[in-house]
Amino acid sequence: MNEHVTPRHAVFPTSRLEEAEGEGLNPTANRTMGEIIAARFSRRDFLRGSLATAAIAATVSPMALISAEHARAASTTRFDFPEVEAGIDEHHHVAEGYDADILLRWGDALFPDSPAFDPNRQTPEAQARQFGYNNDYVGFIPIDGSSDHGYLVVNHEYTNEHLMFPGIVQVVEKADKKDPAKMVKELEIAPADKTRVDIEMAAHGGTVVEIRKENGKWQVVRDGAKNRRITAMTEMALSGPAAGHDRLKTNADATGTRVFGTINNCAGGVTPWGTYIMAEENIHGYFTGTLPEGHPEAGNYKRLGVPEGTYAWGRFHDRFDLSKEPNEPNRFGWVVEVDVEDPTSMPKKRTALGRFKHEGAASTVAKDGRVVFYLGDDERFDYVYKFVTAGRYNPDDRAANMDLLDEGTLYVARFGEDGGMAWLPLVHGQGPLTEANGFRSQADVLIETRRAADLLEATPMDRPEDIEPNGANGRVYVMLTNNTRRKADQVDAANPRAANAFGHIIEIHEDGDDFTAETGRWEVLLKCGDPSVAEVGATFSTETTRNGWFGMPDNCAVDAEGRLWVSTDGNSPKATGRTDGLWAVETEGDGRGTSKLFFRVPVGAEMCGPLLLPDMQTAFVAVQHPADGGEDWEGFGRLSYYEDLSTRWPDFDDAMPTRPSVVAITRQGGGRIG
Ligand code: FEO
Ligand code: CA
Ligand code: CA
Ligand code: CA
Repeated sequence: MNEHVTPRHAVFPTSRLEEAEGEGLNPTANRTMGEIIAARFSRRDFLRGSLATAAIAATVSPMALISAEHARAASTTRFDFPEVEAGIDEHHHVAEGYDADILLRWGDALFPDSPAFDPNRQTPEAQARQFGYNNDYVGFIPIDGSSDHGYLVVNHEYTNEHLMFPGIVQVVEKADKKDPAKMVKELEIAPADKTRVDIEMAAHGGTVVEIRKENGKWQVVRDGAKNRRITAMTEMALSGPAAGHDRLKTNADATGTRVFGTINNCAGGVTPWGTYIMAEENIHGYFTGTLPEGHPEAGNYKRLGVPEGTYAWGRFHDRFDLSKEPNEPNRFGWVVEVDVEDPTSMPKKRTALGRFKHEGAASTVAKDGRVVFYLGDDERFDYVYKFVTAGRYNPDDRAANMDLLDEGTLYVARFGEDGGMAWLPLVHGQGPLTEANGFRSQADVLIETRRAADLLEATPMDRPEDIEPNGANGRVYVMLTNNTRRKADQVDAANPRAANAFGHIIEIHEDGDDFTAETGRWEVLLKCGDPSVAEVGATFSTETTRNGWFGMPDNCAVDAEGRLWVSTDGNSPKATGRTDGLWAVETEGDGRGTSKLFFRVPVGAEMCGPLLLPDMQTAFVAVQHPADGGEDWEGFGRLSYYEDLSTRWPDFDDAMPTRPSVVAITRQGGGRIG
C-alpha cells in the first residue's frame, strides 16, 4: 500500500490493522477436527429452544422470531432493564431509566497545566498532557476499597488520522480495483510530517486518572497526584525470562532491557494487587523498512505480519525501521504492567506472558492463591492462552506481589472435539520446544510464542479477543470475533462455522473449578448473528428479541453478580443493520443464551470497555472511533472524514471533530445496573 493513501473503507469500519483481510498468518495444518459440533450441540440447543441451529435451520421462519419477541426477555434472565432498540444514528442510546454521561473525551485535560483541546493547533506536548485517542480497555482501581473514588485506567489503542487532523484528507475518484470500469471514491491522506507522527505517538498508550463520584455523578480529579499519561515515547523496562536476551538488544539499548513506548494497547486488565495491565496487540502496523538480507528474525516476523507499514513512524524514528533496528519488533507484542501508585515508576513489559497480538489480560486468583491470566491472540487461526503465576498472591502485602508476573507457566489451549480441552505448557525443553527446533532457551519460546504453540498443535481459533474468568461460577468466557477465511474443511468443534462472519462465544469450565487446571471442558455458549436468517446458524435463545442479537463479540466483562456483558466490533448498516453496543448475555438457567441490548454507540464507532464497578452502581464503556464509517448508512451515505463527519459525537459542535470518549452509565436516582 502506498503509505500516504489509506485503503477504501472496509465493509466493517474498524481498526485498519485488525480488519486487513488477510488469510491469517498461521502456516500449520493442525486445524480440522470433523463435524462433531452438530451432533454434540443441536439436540440440546433444540431442547433449550435456541433458534436456527444446524438441525432446525430449515424450519425457522420469521414467525418464530416474532413469537420470541413476545416471550419478553426479562422473564427468565437476571437482567431487568428495558431493552434499547437496535439501529443506527449519530447518537448513543442507553436503556430507559439510565443516564449515560460523557466522562472523558479525546483531548480532555488530565493535569492542572494541560492545555485546552484545540483541534487546529495540536502538538505532541499538548497531547501528552491530554486524554489520548481511541479509548479501548477501561479498568478501575479503587482508592481505599471505594466504588466512588479510584483510578480509572484507559488504553488508547491507535489513531485515525482522517478523523483527527484538519486539512489532510482529499476525496478522490478512482477505478475500482476489482471492477476497473467502476469508479469509486476514496480518502487520500496527505503524508505525515514529524509533528503529526509525534502527535500520533503521544495519542497512543494509556491514561491513569483519579476520578470521584459526587452527588451521583462521576468527575475527573484533574489535580490527582497519580494522574499519568503513558505514550509510545514512555521509557519502559523489559522484565522476565526474555529480558536482556540478545534478540532484544538494539543500537539504542545494548542491554535488551529498556524500550521506549507501548503501542496498540487493546484490552487489558487490573491485577488483584492493583496494577494496570496494557496488552500490546497489532504491533505489525507500526514497523516499516526491510530486514537485512538473511536476517535470522525473518521467519519470526512473518508469523506476526511484521512489517505492515500503515503508520509512517519509521520515517522519523529509527526504531520503527527494520533496516536500522532489526531487533526492535521483538520488544513489542508483550503485556505491560503499570504500578499506578507511583506515577514515576517505569512500566514493565512482562515477557513471561509471551509475545503475540495480545488482546487483553483479565485475571483471577485461583483457590491455591496463584493468579491466572487469560490471554487471547487476535488473529485469524491463532490461539487462546493462559498464564499461571509460580508465586501466590498475598492480599496483605502489595509489594510482595509486584513481580509475580515474571515467573510462571504460559499455556496454550487445545480444544478437543469431545468437549474436553488441554492447556499445553510452553516450557523450553519439553516436547518439541528444543534446540532442534530453534528454541535455545525459554526466552526463544516466549519471543516466538506463536511458533512454539504451532508445534504443540494448539487449536487455531476464529480470532480470540477478550477472555474473562468468572469467579462466581468457575467458568471462563472466550470471545471469538469472526473469521470469514475459515473454509468448510477447516471447521472444527470449537470453531464450528465456515466463513464465520459473526463470531461465537465459548464457555470453558476448568476441571475441579480450578483456574490453574491443565484440563477442562468447554462448549459453545453462543453462535452470533441474526437468528431469523436460518443460514447464519445463530443460537440466541428464543427469548432474544430482534434488538438482542449481535455479531462480532469483542470485549466482555463479568459483573459482581457473575453476569456476562459483551461489547462488539463490526456491527454496521451493511453487516447487521445496527451499530455496535453493549449486550447483557444470560449464561445461567432457562434464560441461557438470551441477550439484551443495553447501550449502543453512534455510527462508525466500536464498543470498548466495558466495566461494571464492584458496587454495581456504575458501568463504564468506551466509544472508540466514532464516525469511522457511515458511507453505508442511508442517514449519511458518503465517506466520513474530519471536514465531513458522519457524526460529531459527543460535542455536536461544528468547530469540533468527533471524539472517542469514555461514558459513565448510572441508574437515574441511583441503584443497581442491569
Ligand atoms: Fe483491538 Fe482484537 O481488538
Ligand atoms: Ca476492539
Ligand atoms: Ca476487535
Ligand atoms: Ca474485559
